[in-house]
Amino acid sequence: MSGFGSRAWSLTERMDDPRCDGVRLNRTYAQFGTLNRLVSAWRRAYVRHVRPALQAGAAMHGRARLVDVGCGGGDVTLRLHDWAVRDGIPVETFGVDPDGRALAFAQGRWRDSSVSGVEGWVEDAIGTLPPADMVVSNHVLHHLTPDELPGFLDGCRRLSRGRVLHSDLLRSRLSHAGFSFMGLAFRGSFVREDGLTSIRRAFTRQELQAAVGPAGRVEAVTPFRLWLTQDGTATGADHDANGWFS
Ligand SMILES: C[S@@+](CC[C@H](N)C(=O)[O-])C[C@H]1O[C@@H](n2cnc3c(N)ncnc32)[C@H](O)[C@@H]1O
Repeated sequence: MSGFGSRAWSLTERMDDPRCDGVRLNRTYAQFGTLNRLVSAWRRAYVRHVRPALQAGAAMHGRARLVDVGCGGGDVTLRLHDWAVRDGIPVETFGVDPDGRALAFAQGRWRDSSVSGVEGWVEDAIGTLPPADMVVSNHVLHHLTPDELPGFLDGCRRLSRGRVLHSDLLRSRLSHAGFSFMGLAFRGSFVREDGLTSIRRAFTRQELQAAVGPAGRVEAVTPFRLWLTQDGTATGADHDANGWFS
């Protein structure tokens, strides 16, 4: 195994293989729900970033809009949506993912909610969705090659008229050692193997800040997790012609 001194972004994850085992893949999406609750700090992100942006959007436009890009199995999307509904925020929520297998799983999870799915890349969502007040991603940045990162970040900003928050793994020996142990609890799926690969593909705080420059703020919110926050660049207008708001 090579060291942790640079991103091993050319490694591939088992779940990204279109021919991977479907049962293990669906178990992976299901287990992401548990894993994200344990390690992803989304309640903290909701209170600090998501809720204020949605409240501001609802105050200004009558209804707020939340988009989760690279939503995968859709558990983070649903939790954020449910928290906003519980807080009395009028919100419409979308999950975007280019992988039809992920979106099919997510749509099963969202069945009893009003969350909608868009199958596509972030670039496709720009042409499909009206501007959001909050755009989030979870565990997507490490998926991207150095060449793909700027376009993805720019796309997420163009989707948002409010804020953008990317939450992802932080690459370190400590993260890798910790997940090597913790991942043993997730059986019959790709969670442990892909999780360890993901940590090796992930950024350090300094690398991500250097890649983003002054257009964003990167912080290590735990020893294992990075947040990148940015302002959106979409205009505030809703797309009445599309029938979103009357
Ligand atoms: C590790 S999964 C994370 C899924 C989910 N957000 C979670 O935390 O459980 C990364 C997801 O990002 C999606 N993805 C990768 N590149 C993307 C892009 N450019 N635009 C939108 N989604 C992307 C992949 O299809 C995959 O479902």
